[in-house]
Amino acid sequence: MDFKRYLQVLKEHSPYDFSNYSDNSIKRRLQKVIADNDLSVDELLQKTQNDTCFVERLVEEITVNTTELFRDPELWPVFYSQLLTQLKGKKTFNIWHAGSSSGMEVYSNMIILNELGLLERARIYATDISSSMVRQCKSGSFRYQFNKGQIEAFEKVLKKNPINGISKIDFTKYFDVDKVNDKLIAKDFLREKVDVRQHDLVQEKSPFYNKFDVIFCRNVLIYFNAALQSKVYQMFHNQLFPKGCMILGNHESLTGFFKTKFKKSGPLYVKTNAFHFKYQ
Ligand SMILES: C[S@@+](CC[C@H](N)C(=O)[O-])C[C@H]1O[C@@H](n2cnc3c(N)ncnc32)[C@H](O)[C@@H]1O
Repeated sequence: MDFKRYLQVLKEHSPYDFSNYSDNSIKRRLQKVIADNDLSVDELLQKTQNDTCFVERLVEEITVNTTELFRDPELWPVFYSQLLTQLKGKKTFNIWHAGSSSGMEVYSNMIILNELGLLERARIYATDISSSMVRQCKSGSFRYQFNKGQIEAFEKVLKKNPINGISKIDFTKYFDVDKVNDKLIAKDFLREKVDVRQHDLVQEKSPFYNKFDVIFCRNVLIYFNAALQSKVYQMFHNQLFPKGCMILGNHESLTGFFKTKFKKSGPLYVKTNAFHFKYQ
């Protein structure tokens, strides 16, 4: 199948434009969709043009939604050792998790902020292209068995590297456990704290008027080509306060022009000046 031509058809018949995702990954994902759904190319084209529910499911299958509670557990003590003083010095601060998937990273961050006594002062936003990921993030309901291991891994890291003296967290403060249905359900005060919206980093400008102290965009841009990555970095740069910072995934890094607009400090990319780019 000519997948570039297919992406053009998808773009013409839906709000989604994957034409600037990296070729290899989008090709693999599309081939998988075709095989899993046992579709001919003609059937795929037909459904893409006529079936909006199919297109929504397709978006989920094309994008990679993998996430975990306290993903990359070593990140969190380093992140807060660098940023705590700055955040503590503010009356309120804004954090955006862009490409938040089902929200496990968002809830992880809110738990740490609460332990630090900072959750009240934080405004937390989460966005994702996928409507079903947005629903999951709002529901705050995750798999118990899978995340039990993640929480244990984080507890080990915390014991070795406490965050501002915090070396242990009582997770029953944050989740109800439904072992029968293998569910971990976030308490209301966490679910109500986060403003979750559907937003496509490809199509749209920032969905927010406010500026941010921190933008998490981890393990998302790795699927975009260089031109699209630049467009998104530009938007994040514009949306950050001076000295605001961006956090990428462990296998992602800035290259070229944007290396001069952010200063790398451990896992953080700190906005170096207030120069404003025109978003195109
Ligand atoms: C691998 S997950 C990363 C989740 C989380 N940030 C983490 O690191 O655990 C990538 C997420 O990016 C979302 N995504 C992909 N393309 C996007 C786009 N154009 N706009 C917004 N979100 C997008 C996917 O739906 C998916 O939920």
